[in-house]
This record gives sequence, C-alpha cells and structure tokens, in this order.
Amino acid sequence: MQDRYLLGVDVGGSGIKGAIVDTLTGELQTERLRIKTPKPATPAAMAEAFAELVKQHGYKGVIGCGFPAIIKSGKALSAANISKKWLGKSVIETFSLACGCPVEVLNDADAAGLAVMKFGLGKDKPGVVLLITIGSGLGSALFIDGKLVPNTEFGHMILHGEAAEVYASNKTRKAEDLSWEAWGGRFNEYLAYVERIINPDLVLLGGGISKHFSKYEAYLDVDLNVHAAELRNHAGTIGAALYAKQQLQNS
Ligand code: BGC
Repeated sequence: MQDRYLLGVDVGGSGIKGAIVDTLTGELQTERLRIKTPKPATPAAMAEAFAELVKQHGYKGVIGCGFPAIIKSGKALSAANISKKWLGKSVIETFSLACGCPVEVLNDADAAGLAVMKFGLGKDKPGVVLLITIGSGLGSALFIDGKLVPNTEFGHMILHGEAAEVYASNKTRKAEDLSWEAWGGRFNEYLAYVERIINPDLVLLGGGISKHFSKYEAYLDVDLNVHAAELRNHAGTIGAALYAKQQLQNS
C-alpha cells in the first residue's frame, strides 16, 4: 500500500500548509508545516515556496494540492486572492516542475470538502451539504448525496455590491477589526443569502475561524443546520492528499 501515505498541500491566501496524510484514516503522519504565501503571490514565488515545503518533508511521490482558484484541467481560471498572473496558468505544471514530483490539483475548498465528507461531520450525510471555508476568502464545496459539484465559488455571490468574501471573510474581520458580533452579523447576512439561493440540508464551516464558532454562533439566526467542521484547519491538507489518492486509483 505504498500510496496510502501521501503529501497533501493546502495553498491559501496567507499560508501554504502541508503534511503527509494517512489517506485511509485521515490522520496526519507528520507535523503540519507552514510557509507564508509570498506577496505578491505570483506563480514563480509560489512555486518556490511550494518546492521548499516539499523539500522540508523530504518527500518523493504524488502530491495532492488544494489551490484557491477555479481549477479546470489543472489550470487556474480565477485569481481573487493571488496574483492575476495565475489566470490560465497550469498549476500542475508550475508546481511539478518546481518540486520534481507529480502534482494533482483541485480547488482548496473542494479539497477541504472531500476530507469533511469522508472523515468529518459530512460523513454518510445524504442530500445537499455545503462546506464554507472562511479565511482570506470565502470558499465553498457543494456535495449532493456525497458527490462533489466542483468549483462552486459561492464566496463570489454579490453582497452589498461586491463579492461576499470582501464583506464577510476572516481577512476582512481582521482588517476592519470587527467584533465577533459585527462580523457574525455580516456572516449571517451571507448565510441568509445562501439559504435563499440553495437552501442546503447541512452547512459546515471550515477554515481557522471555525474553532471560534462559539464566539459568533449566537449571531447566526438563519433557518439552516449550521455546524463547525470538526477537522477545522487540517481539512484542506487531508482532502488534497485524498484527491491525489483518488487520481492514482483512477489512472
Ligand atoms: C477563491 C476560491 C477559494 C476561496 C478560498 C476565493 O477567493 O475564489 O477559489 O476557494 O477564496 O480560498
């Protein structure tokens, strides 16, 4: 079972995080290492950081990578929190050339969703399940009877004239120094919008801020079943490795 333990890397707007993951159990086999996402987050600078992270793990093999953009055929088709130089560029080629290992890539929120659906609160949950990752942006991963509908980008629905993530991300909470009540109110508006548009059966919240759920839960009054996703900030790393495993099995 040589492909049981795979390196998963979660590329985010503020950090690039990686760990070797046991894809059968979802456990991290190594400490999760983190490198700051370079600013500006150009392909060249991010490739160097990605390769450094792989080197720190002393890893050779297939790498799964969650990346904060719409991903089709390994290419980035959007660039909200990264350099516009990524638009149309192959993430697979850029990262695999830099680190010398094959790389499989998918949207970062979709990666986190795969982990939450296999090892977290989404496990065996039928119907429409939506994971929202709250970080530099608002990511979304939509599942219908356990099957991923990729690249949903619900963080880009327009709220108050701009992308919802500009109004209600964790980056905005910090940048505007919002209290939990003020930010919770904004996030509640976003959830109310999600409720009107797709009304999922279950909403799971991921990203670093999910560990603070108790601080803003009281300000959410939507008629949705909302919970903090258990795997919290590790979900993206675990899901990236799971995706690489799936790709290996399909090849
Ligand atoms: C991007 C998404 C990403 C999310 C979370 C958004 O700005 O458009 O692709 O999933 O941030 O990183």
